[in-house]
Amino acid sequence: MKQFISALDVTDINSLVQKALAYKNAPFKDKGLGKNKRIGCLFLNPSMRTRLSTQIAAQNLGMDAIVFNAGQDGWALEFEEEAIMSGNTVEHVKDAAPIMGKYFDVLAIRTFPSLKNKEDDYSELYINQFIKYAGIPVVSLESATLHPLQSLTDIITITEERKRSELTNTKPRIVLTWAPHIKPLPQCVANSFSQWVTAWDEAEFVITHPEDYELNEEFTKGATITTDQNAALKGADFVYVKNWSTYQDYGKIYCNDPEWMITTQKLALTNNAKVMHCLPVRRNIELSDEILDGPNSLVTTQASNRVWAAQAVLSEILNSGK
Ligand code: CP
Repeated sequence: MKQFISALDVTDINSLVQKALAYKNAPFKDKGLGKNKRIGCLFLNPSMRTRLSTQIAAQNLGMDAIVFNAGQDGWALEFEEEAIMSGNTVEHVKDAAPIMGKYFDVLAIRTFPSLKNKEDDYSELYINQFIKYAGIPVVSLESATLHPLQSLTDIITITEERKRSELTNTKPRIVLTWAPHIKPLPQCVANSFSQWVTAWDEAEFVITHPEDYELNEEFTKGATITTDQNAALKGADFVYVKNWSTYQDYGKIYCNDPEWMITTQKLALTNNAKVMHCLPVRRNIELSDEILDGPNSLVTTQASNRVWAAQAVLSEILNSGK
């Protein structure tokens, strides 16, 4: 693996999942793999889980991890080619990225979308500029449109749960449901989950959202899509809850109907589904306390599995550079 930006960088999802689960069983079995290697983790936006799990994963492999809050502590970066830098940006990515390429063996980056300029966001301007100029493998810690480490984690968690509950004979029904929120959020997690679950091809996959919240078809091809949440939830084995803002009329909140929050009443429609969310979650807006604090919630397991997803990916990248 030369980079990790989306599901398209993975040739065999199940094998990567098994690799991650093997690290969960034996975190330090490849402690020598990253000896004298260094990962730079650049955050242009806030993070808790991604930041900590990536550092732990790197350390488990014997790598040094340096975290740089570029959005907060670094010079304001310019990403446009041929920009006349007379505004607020101080340093061009084509000057900064090659230096990072000299300091580090792997560069991991978190950027968010503007939610203002769909073309820029969906061209993945920021992360692609780092890929272009850093000259070393780049790992996405969430980009403008995708969150691949989260999605790999989600599939690891579903795989584990299916094994635990002996659900492995049939394709599970996985429902991705939109939920209300107070702010317009990126489509990254929903896009990415859809991309990974359809590429994985081991589930009956349903997406449900109110009208006007259609996602980019590039990521949802192969899914059943409905605006009837109750019908979608019927018989679900896994319910993935996430808010996203509108894609067509980009970055807006249209309907914010509280009826779309996942509660115990909604859960009663399912096949005693396990409930997933990438976190952070707005309690009693997206998901009720009863669900989050109850036995069907997988959110803590999901977040803890972030370490093994990152470790499997870093291991693939280190091995391919040998
Ligand atoms: N799920 C996730 O990416 O969490 P953080 O934003 O805290 O990293």
